[in-house]
Amino acid sequence: MHFLVRHANLIFAAAFLLPSLSSAYAREDDVKAQVIAKQNACLGCHAKNKKIVGPAFQDIAKRYANDPNAKIFLRNKILKGGAGSWGVVPMPANTKLNDSDLNLLLPWILRGAPSAN
Ligand code: HEC
Repeated sequence: MHFLVRHANLIFAAAFLLPSLSSAYAREDDVKAQVIAKQNACLGCHAKNKKIVGPAFQDIAKRYANDPNAKIFLRNKILKGGAGSWGVVPMPANTKLNDSDLNLLLPWILRGAPSAN
């Protein structure tokens, strides 16, 4: 009991700090992903929650939420471009993205692009 009373503040702090630390890391990746999306003109055609030329990132996230192949499928689609998933307007190929760009972009898009405007 004595231990608990003396360390209650520490236990309390740990319980609250740990989850917020991990979300700070998630936010850092979100910001990186957003920069990559901006640099590659993705944000000229996509926004977080409204259709521009391409579908909203949140709509993409919803559509593929339960699709175990989403990352592989979308990785290919982003690189090669194409139409047919959302309509007849094609996405151009995005040939400049490297693996580390894609590894940041894909989870970010599949979470609905949390940091985008
Ligand atoms: C010139 C406009 C344009 C640009 C630039 C663009 N997109 Fe797209 N994007 C589209 C269109 C149009 C679609 C819908 C294609 C379809 O219906 O299959 C789409 C679809 C997508 C999809 C969903 C694909 C599917 O089959 O469901 C993802 C993910 C995506 N874009 C990511 C990106 C990323 C990441 C970038 C930047 C590297 C990017 N887009 C750049 C127009 C664009």
